[in-house]
Amino acid sequence: MNTLPPGSTIGIIGAGQLGRMLGVAAAQLGYRIHVFAPASGPACDVNNAFTAAAYDDEAALAQFAEAVDVVTYEFENIEAAPIATLAKSVPVRPSAQALSIAQDRTQEKTFVEKLGGRAAPWRAVTNRQELDSAIAEIGCPAILKTIRFGYDGKGQARLASADDADAAWDAIGGNPAILEGFVDFDHEFSIVLARGMDGAHASYPPPLNGHEDGILARSTVPAPAQVAALWTEAAALAGRVADALDYVGVLTLEFFAGKDGPIFNEMAPRVHNSGHWTIEGAVTSQFENHIRAICGLPLGSTAVTGSRVEMENLIGDQAKRWPRIIAEPEAHLHLYGKSEIRPGRKMGHVTRVWR
Ligand SMILES: Nc1ncnc2c1ncn2[C@@H]1O[C@H](COP(=O)(O)OP(=O)(O)O)[C@@H](O)[C@H]1O
Ligand SMILES: [Mg+2]
Repeated sequence: MNTLPPGSTIGIIGAGQLGRMLGVAAAQLGYRIHVFAPASGPACDVNNAFTAAAYDDEAALAQFAEAVDVVTYEFENIEAAPIATLAKSVPVRPSAQALSIAQDRTQEKTFVEKLGGRAAPWRAVTNRQELDSAIAEIGCPAILKTIRFGYDGKGQARLASADDADAAWDAIGGNPAILEGFVDFDHEFSIVLARGMDGAHASYPPPLNGHEDGILARSTVPAPAQVAALWTEAAALAGRVADALDYVGVLTLEFFAGKDGPIFNEMAPRVHNSGHWTIEGAVTSQFENHIRAICGLPLGSTAVTGSRVEMENLIGDQAKRWPRIIAEPEAHLHLYGKSEIRPGRKMGHVTRVWR
């Protein structure tokens, strides 16, 4: 295995909180961090070097490639083409191919379905007429989602009946989309899986994920029995996806717990909010395992450190609760250093581990 020893420099594209927590894990293992992003962000509090440039600035990317030993990304709403160019001069892990599939809802669903995954019924919708035919085929309730650039429930519109078609089409700005049948689920969960350069897998027990207004509110481990029963099948699917992509790093698949098995929702080619509990709640965090994977080190144990773990997101004004949280002797408070509180903005999280 082509190991990058501690002291090497890891390039991270994106300067958000995921980059910040990757940076902390990398520093602990003795690596240096170079962040590349258009503007300063939470990751810039923990880096050794920072390039401020647009994600498609080829000249700046070429210089960045010279300065680092491996490149990873913490943000998937970037063009895959410049990343593929970057990969000609420096290893990019996970690959630009993984990025381009995961950032396109039609591609990710097709890819996962080919590997035996089951998704809610869906149709590609590229114009208003296609929306009508998709509604006729799939029925309502349904959700219209833009193919690209959706996150935290943005770029989505719900249709209770066909009468909502005009409003939904306007709400997503008439962008290329998919119409997806509404899943009447009891639970949502995710599989966070690390794949090493040698092809080894390490996946965490699936957390139960609770969303509010389309944004993750909390993740709890262990998940209820209905989710635990789907763990093996969902983790095996995530493993097949990772193998098919020759994936290196942490990969996340989101699921609904269906009556007859896991229903695949979407995937992210990166560490994930539903894996933040692993910092204190698992022997090796998702961030450390991502760094280990992309540097060619053996993966660490994903075992849980307590009988129960809960991660609660601090969104918008909820971050003002920090003085009460820090007064709880056993709560682990994480604040992302964002100066401005905005509604729906992820400001931090808190993890509680019960021994
Ligand atoms: N087909 C569906 N049926 C029911 N709920 C859904 C469906 N798709 C999405 N949701 C709800 O909306 C949330 C956000 O949707 P998701 O596709 O994961 O987009 P995002 O990229 O914003 O995370 C999901 O976690 C789930 O709670
Ligand atoms: Mg999601």
